Amino acid sequence: MSHPEKFHLACVMGDPIMHSRSPSLHNYWMKQHGLTGVYVPVHVTRERLEAALRALPALGFAGCNLTIPLKERALEIVDEADVTARRIGAISCVTVRPDGTLAGTNNDAYGFIENLLEAFPDWRADAGPVVVMGAGGAARAVVYALADRGAKDIRLVNRTFERAVSLGKAIGGPVTPLRWEERHAALDGAALLVNTTSQGMVHNPPLDLSLGNLPKGADVCDIVYIPGETPLLAEARRRGHRTVNGLGMLLHQGRPAWRSWFGIDPKVTREMREMIEATI
Ligand code: ATR
Repeated sequence: MSHPEKFHLACVMGDPIMHSRSPSLHNYWMKQHGLTGVYVPVHVTRERLEAALRALPALGFAGCNLTIPLKERALEIVDEADVTARRIGAISCVTVRPDGTLAGTNNDAYGFIENLLEAFPDWRADAGPVVVMGAGGAARAVVYALADRGAKDIRLVNRTFERAVSLGKAIGGPVTPLRWEERHAALDGAALLVNTTSQGMVHNPPLDLSLGNLPKGADVCDIVYIPGETPLLAEARRRGHRTVNGLGMLLHQGRPAWRSWFGIDPKVTREMREMIEATI
């Protein structure tokens, strides 16, 4: 019987965790690339995150992904965080280095942009004003990505205005914080609308936003992917806008993780997307 040289291990930590589609995605790539190994969901509370991360080298893990509510706390724990993670203020991916130290980065911004470009290949960040709804954890990566790609006018609308102000300050890009009452008017002249709030997600009410002011050629992105088409995306599609949900953001953020863990550049394929869509 032959013994493979190495058993490849990686995981996603979160609390809760069993809803995560990351294991399906990464185990698909394990099979596709002929790696012997597994990617597992691990339930980790904030209190135990440090112990869990520090156990990775001893257990032989290549690294891990992090999801809610661990991303900000991880930044305080890793031995080194790159500039992307520090600007976003959160870590989505940890790599165990050969000396056992932990390197953190944030691949959510990368995933967000790749998802947009896959759906709208001619999309440019500087094509016109971008309206971002929401100023929570997910919005930080989105606003960072847009500013990094050269967006010149980011209108950041949040129910809690102060959160939009502090996110704008933290990212430091061309961000104009706007009040919730200004959300309908904020769409005037926009080239892209992005929802980062939890509104429209399964079990939540739809985002309360009238698209009346959104120009005809504007694109609409909802980073929610359960359901696959939120009420916002359905309305945008009916009005003739190009739309994309957030599933591709999840799929694409996995690619740089694999480069860093296993030195492999995996592809987001139609088959993989369909396999994950079937579980939603
Ligand atoms: P995540 O990490 O997924 O972004 P979060 O940090 O809790 O989660 O952020 C959730 C976002 O959805 C916030 O922008 C939140 O607005 P507040 O900052 O005012 O809380 C937004 N959100 C949640 N419920 C909302 C609602 N009923 N109406 C409008 N925005 C809402």
